[in-house]
Amino acid sequence: MADRTQDRHGHRIFAALYDRMTAPAERAILGPRRAALVGELTGRVMDVGAGTGANLPHYRRADEVIAVEPDPAMRRRLTARVADARVPVTVIAADGETLPAEDGTVDSVVFTLVLCTVPDPAQALAEARRVLRPGGTLLALEHVLGHGRAALWRRRLDPLWTRAAAGCHLDRDTETTIRAAGFAPATIEHFSTSPAWGPIGDLFQLTAER
Ligand SMILES: C[S@@+](CC[C@H](N)C(=O)[O-])C[C@H]1O[C@@H](n2cnc3c(N)ncnc32)[C@H](O)[C@@H]1O
Repeated sequence: MADRTQDRHGHRIFAALYDRMTAPAERAILGPRRAALVGELTGRVMDVGAGTGANLPHYRRADEVIAVEPDPAMRRRLTARVADARVPVTVIAADGETLPAEDGTVDSVVFTLVLCTVPDPAQALAEARRVLRPGGTLLALEHVLGHGRAALWRRRLDPLWTRAAAGCHLDRDTETTIRAAGFAPATIEHFSTSPAWGPIGDLFQLTAER
């Protein structure tokens, strides 16, 4: 079915609401986790599906952040935040499935709350592997299907949720997809939100070396 929430300008309503909708979660959980995940990264960093730029204030040491975002409505907000970043940021219109970098030229690739949405997460991870230098780092903070009754409800709700939330899926097993792409986690932490953010409640945060 066609995605009626999007036109050539992108997901305008989702983009307009995103920062307001996520503000409580940012204050309570996501903000500190973003800071811990990306704050110490150095060198050339690629932030895939950078959205409205929620990670940007947390980069402190990177030489350069390449913020990749395909949705024009999200990208407008992302671009508006670049001036406030403490590190140089370049915004590029591209998909995660075709990353705009040569092989082995990136030190870190960051996915936060994005592998739930990219149409082909396996391809996006293959691209991350391609652009990362040997020894480079993959970093991810993602929500997942979870287990038991919560997983059952997320599966049922997924078709509706996907249309309301700009392509986001509730039913992905992203950790398995990351491992299948050849990334063995060096660190991984599973956590739950309490209270849950609507149907989102089970997340993980990981780092893995290329
Ligand atoms: C839920 S938002 C997360 C934004 C941001 N990473 C964050 O942590 O707040 C998901 C983002 O993925 C982007 N996206 C959708 N399809 C994508 C694709 N194929 N490649 C890269 N990003 C994509 C969306 O436009 C949106 O900005």
